[in-house]
Amino acid sequence: MQTLEVLIKKLWEDYSSMSKQAESIHKLLIARGEKVINDHIAFRTFNIPKVGLATIAKIFIGFGYKPNGEYHFKEKKLYARHYEHPDPNNPKIFISELKLEECSADLQKIVKDLVAQVPDQLTKQWDFCACGVPWKPVSYPTYEKLLSESEYAGWMSAFGFRANHFTVYFNPLKTFKDLQEFNEFIKKSGYKLNTSGGEIKGSPQEFLEQSSTLAHPVEVKFADCTRTIPGCYYEFAQRYKLPDGKIFTGFVAQSADKIFESTDNRPKK
Ligand code: NI
Repeated sequence: MQTLEVLIKKLWEDYSSMSKQAESIHKLLIARGEKVINDHIAFRTFNIPKVGLATIAKIFIGFGYKPNGEYHFKEKKLYARHYEHPDPNNPKIFISELKLEECSADLQKIVKDLVAQVPDQLTKQWDFCACGVPWKPVSYPTYEKLLSESEYAGWMSAFGFRANHFTVYFNPLKTFKDLQEFNEFIKKSGYKLNTSGGEIKGSPQEFLEQSSTLAHPVEVKFADCTRTIPGCYYEFAQRYKLPDGKIFTGFVAQSADKIFESTDNRPKK
């Protein structure tokens, strides 16, 4: 059945089997008696039309989602949009794409070669956003070359099309006073948080506070060797009411910018 529910289940199964920490944290919350609601699912891609933001968005628009906020990440050379479903129980969808024209000629060439391997038919499939890696494995030196210029491009080359992260919606949780207390619980349970820009990104004044784990290490088979590299992370989001009394449903670019670094274990400059 090609339903939104089936697609989200498929994305979660792929993501949680790769990112064991998300599955474990999810189970810990359920064991506390919490009901876990997913705030948003995030996807990454390149801005080549065949596989770009619009191609991924089309899948969700087909399920009734509507485009919403636009976001620009100048330094990371990313453009993003978020999509909302008329039924607020469905997660928001956050899609970003790397603006290749702003990248080096070498990076562009590597990425164009990868995207050229993606069968057209696959990009038209209803579950394209969950297809994984649709190209031959890159070599580890190629991954490292991409990584040195753009952590985002490196991640894409190794992991392809799948959920980059799921997000626990903090608001409906009943056993935590605030996001800080929640973060303490996550750390006490043995998980490391992304500290770039502080553990909590954003503020009540921006109507959104977010934190995230550091990406779970995943063993990846490259063309020439097997290496363990950062995979996917789990995000946590607390939303606040706007002056009109409605809950803020957007994103804060400055915070998202730091959240992207949850997959980055390169030495900090
Ligand atoms: Ni996110």
